[in-house]
Amino acid sequence: MSTRFRPKITVVGAGNVGATLAHRIADSGLGDVILVDVVPNMPLGKALDLEEASPVVGTDCRLIGSNDYGPIEGSDLVVITAGLARKPGMSRDDLLMKNAEIVGGVAEHVKNRAPNAVVIVVSNPLDVMTQLTESVTGFGKKRVLGMAGVLDQARFALFIARELGVSVQDVRAMVLGGHGDDMVPLPRYSTVSGIPITDLMPKDKIDALIKRTREGGAEIVALLGTGSAFYAPAASILAMTRAVLRDERRILPCCTRLEGEYGLRGVYVGVPVVLGAGGVEKIIELKLLPEETKSLQTSADHVRESVKKLGI
Ligand code: NAI
Ligand code: 2OP
Repeated sequence: MSTRFRPKITVVGAGNVGATLAHRIADSGLGDVILVDVVPNMPLGKALDLEEASPVVGTDCRLIGSNDYGPIEGSDLVVITAGLARKPGMSRDDLLMKNAEIVGGVAEHVKNRAPNAVVIVVSNPLDVMTQLTESVTGFGKKRVLGMAGVLDQARFALFIARELGVSVQDVRAMVLGGHGDDMVPLPRYSTVSGIPITDLMPKDKIDALIKRTREGGAEIVALLGTGSAFYAPAASILAMTRAVLRDERRILPCCTRLEGEYGLRGVYVGVPVVLGAGGVEKIIELKLLPEETKSLQTSADHVRESVKKLGI
């Protein structure tokens, strides 16, 4: 981490997720933002617009937009949101080949210009893009991780809170696995003020909330009609960004490479980790029931299939 007063955060992709994240970072005063996109001048316009809000908001963060990678030099943290988003009827896997080309190219620039950064990957299909980014940058598994579980568990937590009529502040949900329809929400580890939801709701209610969580991304895609979710994703990335830049050592579900944990090896999927200044400081291994382990393995198999298609 540099000794600058404010951390330097690069956000690649100034679309819905990237621009919303830049907005949140600027308003929270977390750091200076470099916003990079291929659309001519667009990231410069968005960065300037955001920076012009700063006298009103009262934060001193700098925002720089760019169509090239010069300004990202020496970034402390890089978030990759570049790529296509889902349209109605598309799965995250439909984005595989096109986004691999985009994310692979971005990762090459990050490797050359920001060799000490922690990298948070967001582009879909998330788990495969995270693995690709680690493979291109060579930064190692601690410094390359993916955002999905924080979003998936936020959705699960919201649905639990609404179902029980309690505050979202008291709900802690847990979701493991790949960021796909076979993600693994874990009711036994999802609690309201420490009480497992299995003690608070009948099984059929829990099953309905799990289904809605698994289909949470598609629900928003169907409603928006033109793209995918970005407000909750940006909030989720901000939580991870803060955990790294402030060395909070929060336990958050992140997409990371497993090397024997949960009986899986050499595959990127979401599991709880300790997230701090170095990135993934530690993987937390939950005790799972046989059926939960099987669901996690099925989800990991799906990620492996996509990785094989890419040949990485
Ligand atoms: P968007 O279409 O609004 O923005 C994507 C931006 O990437 C565009 O501005 C585009 O010009 C830019 N871009 C394309 N190629 C580029 C390149 N080579 N270099 C730099 N920028 C490039 O899409 P949105 O909604 O921001 O989503 C971005 C990605 O994040 C999608 O792949 C989406 O599926 C994924 N996503 C993942 C989530 C997760 O939980 N992991 C949550 C939400 C979105
Ligand atoms: C979501 O879950 C698009 O993957 C993104 O909303």
